[in-house]
Amino acid sequence: MDWGMKNRMSQLIQPDGRCFFLPIDHGYFQGPTSCLEKPGETIKPLLPYCDAIFVTRGVLRSAVDPQNSKPIILRVSGGASVIGKDLANESITTSIEEIIRLNASAVGISIFVGSDYERESLTNLSGLVNQCEDYGIPVMAVTAVGKELEKRDARYLGLSCRIAAELGARVVKTYWCQDFDRVVCGCPVPVVMAGGPKCETELEVMEFVYDGIQRGAIGVNLGRNIWQNPHPVAMIRALRAVIHENYTPKDAYDLFNSLKK
Ligand code: 5RP
Repeated sequence: MDWGMKNRMSQLIQPDGRCFFLPIDHGYFQGPTSCLEKPGETIKPLLPYCDAIFVTRGVLRSAVDPQNSKPIILRVSGGASVIGKDLANESITTSIEEIIRLNASAVGISIFVGSDYERESLTNLSGLVNQCEDYGIPVMAVTAVGKELEKRDARYLGLSCRIAAELGARVVKTYWCQDFDRVVCGCPVPVVMAGGPKCETELEVMEFVYDGIQRGAIGVNLGRNIWQNPHPVAMIRALRAVIHENYTPKDAYDLFNSLKK
């Protein structure tokens, strides 16, 4: 691995081998998402506790202070919306010059395996890898399911993650599922977990994050279950303890309760 690639990867993955990415990219297909209407305000108290943020160039420019930021994973796929015909119909939105100009530590792109736009999204990924590897910029593939949340099982996610890695993704972001070790075992690059829609309880979030880490994930890219919680700082700090300090779900939940007061 060249120096630039190694350096960027080390901005994302911490010396303990783990990572905590905070995504605020949701507006790129669903508009002003609840609690993310003003992304700059949402992330201000949370930034100290994450290792990187996942964001589009528009929100980066308008809401993130370039002099007080965390490493940036730039969301570079888009072109579909929740009210459009098909969320899977994405293109690459951001040029390599812009990626470099914004000093991104990595880029992120969705793939939609099994969808009508499977081929397009996979060739978007491989084309992006071709461009980014020339400049030592890691590509994170997001195994997206659009509105079909029920697709999230080990067989489907394992297939999607492996394909993403085969096409050159340096990191793969996927959903947690039962038997998550099957997903991780078949994927030769590091796997991080997304959060998905807000869970019923905080403990539930801590449990799946803990389980995923035990089964081989290196961390999370987790948004709504943090910034849609009424106590986002307590939530991010408790989850950070699971990821970087090996807290059990119960200890993390106790920490959450003590911090939320
Ligand atoms: C949305 C994304 C998000 O980054 C991803 O879903 C993680 O966020 P959340 O924890 O809210 O699901 O890729 O397109």
